[in-house]
Formats: sequence, structure tokens, C-alpha cells
Amino acid sequence: MQLGVCYYPEQWPEDRWADDARRMVAMGLSHVRIGEFAWSRIEPADGQFDWGWLDRAVAVLHEAGLKIVMGTPTATPPRWLVAKMPDMVAVDADGRPRKFGSRRHYCFSHPGYRAEAARIVRAVAARYGTHPAVVAWQTDNEYGCHDTAISYSDAAASGFRRWLAVRHRNIGALNAAWGNVFWSMDYPGFDSIDPPNLTVTEPNPAHVLDWRRFSSDEVVSFNRAQADILRAASPGRDIVHNFMGFFTQFDHHAVSRDLDVATWDSYPLGFLEQFPYFTADEKLRYARTGHPDIAAFHHDLYRGCAKGGRWWVMEQQPGPVNWARYNPAPLPGMVRLWTLEALAHGAELVSYFRWRQAPFAQEQMHSGLLRPDSSDDVGAGEVATVAREIAALGATGAPPKSVALVFSYEASWVFETQPQGVDMRYIELAFALYSALRRLGLDVDIVAPDASLDGYAMVVVPSLPIADTGLVERLAAFDGLVLLGPRSGSKTRDFAIPDTLPPGPLRALIPLRVVRVESLRPGLEHKGDGFTVARWLEHVESDLVPEVKLDDGRGVVFAHGAVRYLAAWPDAALLDRLFTAMAGEAALPVVDLPPDVRLRRHSNLRFAFNFGPEAVDLSSIAGADCVLGTPLVPPASVTVWRD
Ligand code: GAL
Repeated sequence: MQLGVCYYPEQWPEDRWADDARRMVAMGLSHVRIGEFAWSRIEPADGQFDWGWLDRAVAVLHEAGLKIVMGTPTATPPRWLVAKMPDMVAVDADGRPRKFGSRRHYCFSHPGYRAEAARIVRAVAARYGTHPAVVAWQTDNEYGCHDTAISYSDAAASGFRRWLAVRHRNIGALNAAWGNVFWSMDYPGFDSIDPPNLTVTEPNPAHVLDWRRFSSDEVVSFNRAQADILRAASPGRDIVHNFMGFFTQFDHHAVSRDLDVATWDSYPLGFLEQFPYFTADEKLRYARTGHPDIAAFHHDLYRGCAKGGRWWVMEQQPGPVNWARYNPAPLPGMVRLWTLEALAHGAELVSYFRWRQAPFAQEQMHSGLLRPDSSDDVGAGEVATVAREIAALGATGAPPKSVALVFSYEASWVFETQPQGVDMRYIELAFALYSALRRLGLDVDIVAPDASLDGYAMVVVPSLPIADTGLVERLAAFDGLVLLGPRSGSKTRDFAIPDTLPPGPLRALIPLRVVRVESLRPGLEHKGDGFTVARWLEHVESDLVPEVKLDDGRGVVFAHGAVRYLAAWPDAALLDRLFTAMAGEAALPVVDLPPDVRLRRHSNLRFAFNFGPEAVDLSSIAGADCVLGTPLVPPASVTVWRD
């Protein structure tokens, strides 16, 4: 694994660049990402290019021996372009245009903006595509950041109508598929259909789901247009995009098909603060370390997005950030820990955001490896240390396959479209199941619904409301244990309840029917033996004897051969019991871990990470052959042993 940093030469006097580059190399960094927000300095006025400064910056970084990841600048269209084409901006769900003055103000569907984006990408690629220092291209920056994947503009409305005509072929078919007989919602033609915003009460969920699919496809095609240009103009370079945390607005599996490497931006403390799943106690306990599963969940998710499993951390939190409700400093040691954690999960590169803290503009309160006065901040020392440690570890090779967790972006859209209970959030369910597996010391691959399941001992499907026949067949043929979570098979592809009732086509795997579902407000809970069901409960009819029951006798886990169905939103105790039993049947060894510790196997090494405030003694787990650290692991620290 190699290390890098995000750098903005346009934000600093030119006479500092050479010293910056020298210090990067001395710190152990090999890669530098530049350019992704520099459009107004590359093309200060329409058609007038100023390449001089960027040519010199590239030359300085190259001379220092750094490899460059060049960003296309399309996340920040300049003021002159918005003035020339005012309707290129995205429109929010309330119908308000999003103004110039920050970033990501464009609409993915605007044909004029798409042409401008292609033009600037062609220009940058022609200039630097064959430069020996340029090893990779990042398309745009964080698609969807600041809630921008979905735009309700006129351009999007036109695109949606065309998309619907292709999908449904004739308007009668659309009206039937959506159930538009309800409330006289029949449409006379595709031209009469609008995006599903500003309706009096909720729009038809089938309408919303198709809109979500269309909006996601727009991101995919926007990205593909850039990838095609870059591949032609810059052969042999990796094409990457930087995804975000806990973000499901578009199908990342689909975008990744046009990338060589999936990358993501890891801000564990910011995500802990912002993600609703965590309790107030957890937010406090892990305020300076991040919850133990936040980074790992995304490492495993994005590894499963990329072709051949290639993935990077493009932006790693280096200290306090600026954008969460509260922004504490990580414990000393966390920047090193997060870096080694990425290594343990198979990253090729970890790149820190950013080199030097900017003293101006929106992110002036966001730390960097250097302070604004160029002195080393805490992270800089940790990076220099971990660079030496990584070189000494020499870890290579992938861990053996163990558990696959099937993650579906479409499932997330189904939950959002018709949650039925305010706290029914798909990504929280997926995270809860992932976390439970990791607490048992299991390694997890998070895979796409169309991924091969060969070689796994266990497949966990947190929920898959729309179960396509391909996956049903692969699960039926799968030679291992399967868990199907609540709401699986509960909808058709056009967002209707299946004729046979849920779990629809998944009844081929387990003979039961879900005859009623209920969502539960906080406090309206159901007890079982040592566990509690909150949020969601399904009433199941089946001849199967439930494997786990509530105190009132109703079943919440049903088993049929190697397949289990979970008919409730589970708590940690129920998941622990369920996965311990399944791991036992699958002959996967589980570990009795202290609550703040996580393990990860990498090639012939085992990594242990301590996210807690106290030292933990792992001498009963850690082998005698420690290659980093000791069996007594201090807070915010890592121990690695040969396994
Ligand atoms: C990311 C973004 C960066 C920077 C960073 C701050 O979301 O890609 O440009 O804004 O957050 O944490």
C-alpha cells in the first residue's frame, strides 16, 4: 500500500511548491491528487486557457518524484459558465435553483453542461494525458455530495420522460405497472409525466422508484462520458472516483463498472457525529476514535464495487474536520490506526485530505497534515511513522473468503420511498448486521446483488425488497448458510406487493408467508429470551417451527435447511445469537472480542485495532509472533501478528 495527499497548488504561492513536494516525499508520500476544483484558474474566461501555472505545478511535483492523480474539475463550474447557461444549475425538491457560490451546483441532466464538462475534460486530458507523472484520473469529485445527485430541473424532467418511454414502451403499460388507476393518476402520454416533487401528498411510490433509478442512471452516464474521454486520451492510467460515507443516492456498483479503482473519502469522526444510527452514548464513547465499524464497513463496501477488488482511500481525515455538528480532534494515534486499518482491508493507496490547512474560505477550520503556517500538525508525524511501518510489514495478498453481505442501492431507495416507519433506514440495517458479524471477529466482503457467491461459507442479505430471479437462483444453488432479512421479496420491480405475498420469489428458498407488517415507535417493543425487537415486526404464517420466538410465542427467526428468514428488526443480542449459531454451522471460527476491538486478516497477518479509551489485553487471541505492537494494545493503537 502507498500513501498520498490532496494538494491545491492554485491556493498557495508558487515559491512554496517545491518545498511542499520535498516535504511530502520526506514524509513517505508517493502520490498527490491535484486539480479537481481548479476550473476557474485553468479557464478563467470562456475558451481562454491558462495552463502555465498547472504545467509548472505538475513539473515541480514530478521532479520531486511524486505520482499525480489528476482530478477533472467538473464539480466546480466557474461563474462565467453559470452566467452563460443559467439553467445548468440543479433544482432542489422544493423547485428552487441551487445558486453559485459553493460547489456541485450543476444538474447531471443538462445537455449544455454535459457538453461543457466533456469539453473541459478533453482539454485537461489532452494536456496531461500522457505526462509521465500522471498515473490516475479522478472523475469530478464526490458525486451527490451536498445532496446533489437528484435534480428536479426541466432538463431532468425531459430526460426522465425519455427514460420512461424506453423502460415502459407505451403509456398503457406504464399506467398499469405503476397502478395509476389509484386516485385517477392515469397519464395520457409520457410527455405529461413530471418528476415526483411538489405533489399534494406523497407521490406514487412506483413513480418515485423509477425517478430514483433514472437519477442514478444520470450519474452513471455522466461519469461514463468522462471515463471514455480519459481512457482514449490517457491510455494506461487508472480511472477512479471518490465516493462518500453512508451515501446511497446513486448505484455505486453501476458507476464502478466504468472505473478501474473505487475510492472513497473516510472521515470516521464526522460520520459518527452525523449518522443517525449511533446512540448518544456511542457518539460520546467513540468521539475521538470513530465507531469501530465505520471505516471498515466502507472499506469492505467499496472493495466490492471495484473491478477485481481494487480500491483506495482518496481522502483520509487527518485531524478535526469542519462540517459535522461537533468536530473533535482524533486521539493521537488514530491517523496511523486508520491508515493501517485500510491496509488490513486491502487498500492500494491511502491519501490524506489535505496537505495544508487553508486559512481562507469554507474549509478554514478543517485541519491538514500541516497547519496554515506550514508547521507539522499531529497527523504529519503519524503519517511519517506509519509510512515506515507499512514498508516494514510488506503485507501482500488477499484474505480468504468467509462471509458475503449483499448490499443493494435499489433496496435503499425502496426503504426511502415507502419507509412505513420513520426509522426504517436500509443502510442502518446493513450496518447493524455488518457490525454484528465484525464483533464476532469475522471478515466480511460486502458484495453487489449480481456478484458471484462462490467460495463463501455464509451469505447475509440484510434486506432485498426486490429480489431478482438471478439472485434467487444463485442463492438456491449456494452451498452455504443464508440469512434473509426483513422486507426481502416484499415488492415487485414496479413497487407492488407480490401476488403470493412477501417474500415473493424467495419462497423458493424458505416456505413461509409474511401476512402483516408493523412498524414500532420507540418504547413499543417486544421481548424475547435475552433480546428485544424494536422498529419493525412481521407476522409470519408457516408450517416451520420458529427457531427464535418472542415471549408471546410469535416467531422472529425461521430456518429451512441452510436458509434462515429474519422477520424483525434485530437488536445486537439477537444478531449475536443468530450469527454465532450460523458461524458454528458454517465452521467459521468466532472470537470473543472486547467490545472496542476489531480484527482483520490480511494475507498471513492478523490485525487488531483498539477503538476504545482503555488498553486491552489480547494475549489470549494474539499469536506469539507479533510483527507490530504487543498483545497489550493501548487505546487508538494496532497490533499485528503472523497467523
Ligand atoms: C470531502 C470533499 C473534499 C473536502 C472534504 C472535507 O467531502 O471531497 O473536497 O470538502 O470533504 O472534509
